Amino acid sequence: MNIHHGVAAWLAACEGGDVLGRGLVPTMGALHEGHGSLIRQCVAENTQSIVTIYVNPTQFENPDDLGNYPDSLQDDIHYLESLGVSDLILPQYKELYPFDFTLFVDESLDSKVLCGKNRTGHFKGVLSVVMKLINLTQARRVYFGKKDFQQYRLVSKMVEAYFMPTRIIGMDTVRDEHGLALSSRNRRLSDEQLVLARRMNVLLRDGSLSTEEIADQLNSWGFRVDYCEERWGRRFVAAFLGEVRLIDNVEMTP
Ligand code: PAF
Repeated sequence: MNIHHGVAAWLAACEGGDVLGRGLVPTMGALHEGHGSLIRQCVAENTQSIVTIYVNPTQFENPDDLGNYPDSLQDDIHYLESLGVSDLILPQYKELYPFDFTLFVDESLDSKVLCGKNRTGHFKGVLSVVMKLINLTQARRVYFGKKDFQQYRLVSKMVEAYFMPTRIIGMDTVRDEHGLALSSRNRRLSDEQLVLARRMNVLLRDGSLSTEEIADQLNSWGFRVDYCEERWGRRFVAAFLGEVRLIDNVEMTP
């Protein structure tokens, strides 16, 4: 695997390459099997499979969240090598944001609900960095997990709205044997919190319960529910267990 330390190193190495066979999985590291499913698909469908690891500060509203983000670069590198990834890019802030965050991409509808309601600048940071990473790599296929369905939806809209020559591919959420959606944040849960977290998806799938009933039940178990809502044919939940914010969503069946 080629490891490119910084944007300049990547640009120098990729010059003249065939962009049509390029696929990209943008990540913030702390990789797990959820990323693994995106990366396997990317490796299978492209002649050049690119992964970026960059903990993007502009999408964090809370500096503690940014500071607490797990860092496991050496493990991530071994994992990516085992999956057969061809290129890993490790961008630096100054190169990615040459004018700091004075130029950005924003959206004014779908980004203001659910995860964007209380974290008003979150998706502005996400969309901006994803556009930069797509432009930088010129990838023709980019892979996103549907656990972050709102992110997947917004990035798909951005690519369409700006006529970007790439396709966004949404992959189903990977879950553990109890149905808990895999997330880098799960590793911050205590054993007791993990037991509770695994109950969340069971409630979410229960079509006999309203979103209010689900929220009440979660709060009574010790979660602090941020939202539980239905939209876009799906049911979404975000809830804190202690300091850890968990999200999940499922497709609604009639
Ligand atoms: O989903 C993530 O890990 C991040 O939001 C992303 C897409 C890598 C942008 O920083």
